[in-house]
Amino acid sequence: MRDPILAFGKYEILEAVGSGGMATVYRAKLSGPMGFEKPVAVKVLQDDAAADEEIVRMFVDEARLGARLSHPNIAGVMEFGEADGRYFLAMEYVDGMSLGTLLRRRPKGKKAKGLEPAAAVYVASCVLKALAYAQALPGSDGKPMGVVHRDVSPQNILLDRSGAAKLCDFGIATGTWRAEKTRVGVVKGKAGYMAPEQSAGGRVDARTDLYAVGLTLVAMLSGNAPFDGKDTGEIRAKASKGLPRDRIDALACDDGLKDVLMRALAMRPADRFASADEFLKSLAAAAPDPADTGRAALAVALEAALERAPGARSGTARAAVAKAPKRRAATQSSKDAASAAGIRNVLIGAGLLVLVALALALLKVGLPD
Ligand SMILES: Nc1ncnc2c1ncn2[C@@H]1O[C@H](COP(=O)(O)OP(=O)(O)OP(=O)(O)O)[C@@H](O)[C@H]1O
Ligand SMILES: [Mg+2]
Repeated sequence: MRDPILAFGKYEILEAVGSGGMATVYRAKLSGPMGFEKPVAVKVLQDDAAADEEIVRMFVDEARLGARLSHPNIAGVMEFGEADGRYFLAMEYVDGMSLGTLLRRRPKGKKAKGLEPAAAVYVASCVLKALAYAQALPGSDGKPMGVVHRDVSPQNILLDRSGAAKLCDFGIATGTWRAEKTRVGVVKGKAGYMAPEQSAGGRVDARTDLYAVGLTLVAMLSGNAPFDGKDTGEIRAKASKGLPRDRIDALACDDGLKDVLMRALAMRPADRFASADEFLKSLAAAAPDPADTGRAALAVALEAALERAPGARSGTARAAVAKAPKRRAATQSSKDAASAAGIRNVLIGAGLLVLVALALALLKVGLPD
């Protein structure tokens, strides 16, 4: 087994949290004088991903855009760095789990149990606030840059134990801020959460992300992924046709909320909400929550999920650490091994010299004058 990672730059690695398509995320800490400590998440490109120019560029883009985003519903990027020739991203650590993990830990299939509608609406509202902020972010000319996240899905929504919900991974976001466009013909995002125009590789804009929020809301209310299939191709084919209306009708929520979903999930972008703000207002009108019961209900669901699978995270962690390449610790231990071998060689040499000297002395004593 390879040596575990010990540090990336100034961040001490504590455990692996999990791996996605291109990177591994570690729980780490930043230490300072007088016992100062700050938890951080360090995201490191996997070896094969680091060899792909397009992925490296996406990672750098994530860092560049992430550094400009500062919002309570976005997992903030603190630093983009390089250690031992590998790029890493230091981010705010969200202590909890992703919405994807939370939904996976709930009963599936016919017995599927979604989140309470108030909790689902609360999470969707947090994501919409994050998108409203990102969509309005001005560029150097003062005009909105037109940021489109393109991968809004339960995996990229992080929930902390207190019930805060944060959107992360602006890694494949697009907009006028971006120097280069994505490779032609490459469709990015999670197949099961893509709007029809995105699955078709067409033009995406703010309304594409709003559609993904709609599908995420359906997943939270139903407890099941909006589309299933034996592979990504089948899921994408279903997603490109849109969500059948009866799936929305079957949800256990008020009609007002179903109407909001119908609009968010319209096939034609022109028939959807025009902005995250507009979606947010309709959601608040359809499912008002003045007492903040949604956040409390989410915190309860999270606590139950954390209790249901204690150590699940460390299981993934162990696997990811085992897969991780040798880093500083390895470099250090090989240096130590090299210096130990050097000392051993010097001692052996000295021992041999003493033996030769002794032999010569004995020979001299034994020889007749
Ligand atoms: N800032 C963070 N704080 C805590 N956990 C995080 C943070 N960022 C990511 N994670 C967790 O790390 C794991 C890996 O994240 P990553 O973004 O690499 O993959 P993913 O979201 O599962 O897939 P994808 O590659 O499609 O984004 C996920 O389980 C995610 O919940
Ligand atoms: Mg992710």
